[in-house]
Order: sequence, then structure tokens, then C-alpha cells
Amino acid sequence: MASGDAALDWLVELSASIPGWRAGEAARAVAAAAYDLAPNPTIVEVGVFMGRSTFLMAGARRLQGNGQVHCVDPFDCSGDPASVPHYVDVLRKFRGQTLEQVFRSQIKHFKLEGFVTVCKGTSRQIASGWHKPIDLLLLDADHSPDGAREAFESWTPFVKCGGIVALDNTEERVYEPLHDGNYRIAKERLKAPHFENVHRFGNTTFATRL
Ligand SMILES: C[S@@+](CC[C@H](N)C(=O)[O-])C[C@H]1O[C@@H](n2cnc3c(N)ncnc32)[C@H](O)[C@@H]1O
Repeated sequence: MASGDAALDWLVELSASIPGWRAGEAARAVAAAAYDLAPNPTIVEVGVFMGRSTFLMAGARRLQGNGQVHCVDPFDCSGDPASVPHYVDVLRKFRGQTLEQVFRSQIKHFKLEGFVTVCKGTSRQIASGWHKPIDLLLLDADHSPDGAREAFESWTPFVKCGGIVALDNTEERVYEPLHDGNYRIAKERLKAPHFENVHRFGNTTFATRL
């Protein structure tokens, strides 16, 4: 096994200490996608919660010594109606801390501050002032059909040709009402002439922008 492989496996293992939903092959694929980017990449994660995927991507870039993960979240546990109760439940265990405090303390704990930029606000708010081309975009925020569409349409125009879009919550399963936004987008929008090389690992679908 190459040392990069072992290091990514170690990141996946460590990431499980941060509350979140990305695990197994999806976590490994997110870390590898970030690790394999050309030097000094711009990565955007929309919907970061407590930072599990941020850790995977920023950790991968720390191994490479460069790059930045821009983390977009209002840190208010908002989102689709199926998800909000879970966010509130998990946060309650952190005894009075805000979601932003928990996120920042995870990033600090793992010494990733140099690889993470916090963009506090909704997808729409932050996208309206955004201008940088993106190498890797992970969309994992409001999973309602309207919310997912808004994030997809706001952010994918910034993804470079050859850049990667990753959509969480896209596995084949029965979805709770108003929770299948990314699943629908993966089916309907991740295809030619705009995307190629579509493949799914666990709950996360990846595609290359044409
Ligand atoms: C499923 S969690 C993200 C999990 C995270 N990506 C991970 O892998 O651990 C969804 C997050 O999206 C955030 N969110 C909800 N609506 C949003 C919006 N319109 N724009 C940005 N973030 C949003 C919530 O606050 C929550 O933290």
C-alpha cells in the first residue's frame, strides 16, 4: 500500500470521531478526491455541520501541504424538515455550544486552521459574492428539492472544466419526504453535455464538469 493510501485510510478512521454521516467508501472517496487535486486547489463544501467532511478534505490537503477548503454554512441547524431534528439532537450533546463553535473547535483540535476558511451564511448568500474557480465542490446542505437545486445552480457554474462536483445523499433508497433533492439532481443533471465520469461511492456521487 502506498503511503498516501495509508494516510487516507487513517483520515477516514479519525473522521469518525466527528459527528456526521459520511463514512466508509464515501469518506475514502471524498478524501482521495481532495488529495488527488493539482497543487493549491480551491475546494468548496456547502453544508459542513460539525466538520467531518471538512476534516477529510482539509486533512488530505494538509498531507499535500497546500489548498483551501471554503466552508459554507449558516451554522443554525437549518435545512430540510427530515434533517433538522437530527442536527438539533446531535448539537444538544455539546451542552450549550453553538454549531459554529463545535465546528471551529474540531478544526482547531486537528490543527487544520491553515487549510480551512469559514464562510458563514447560506449557500445563496455566499454564492452571490463568490468569484473563484472551484476544483472540488461538495454539496451537502439543504436536501429538499428546492434547496438542493438552488445550491447546484448557484455553485456549479464556478466549477472549472475538469473540476469535480460531489453530491451527498444520492444512494438508491427510499427517501423521507423533501429529502431527495440531491438524489434527483444526480439522476437528472449529472450527465452529458455538462458532466462526465459519473460514479458513486456509498452515499456520494462524483462527476467531472465538462
Ligand atoms: C448534512 S449536514 C452537512 C454534513 C457535512 N457535510 C459532513 O459531511 O459532516 C447539512 C448542513 O447544511 C447546513 N445548511 C442547511 N441549509 C443550508 C443552506 N441553505 N446553505 C448552506 N448550508 C446549509 C446545515 O446547517 C447543516 O450544518
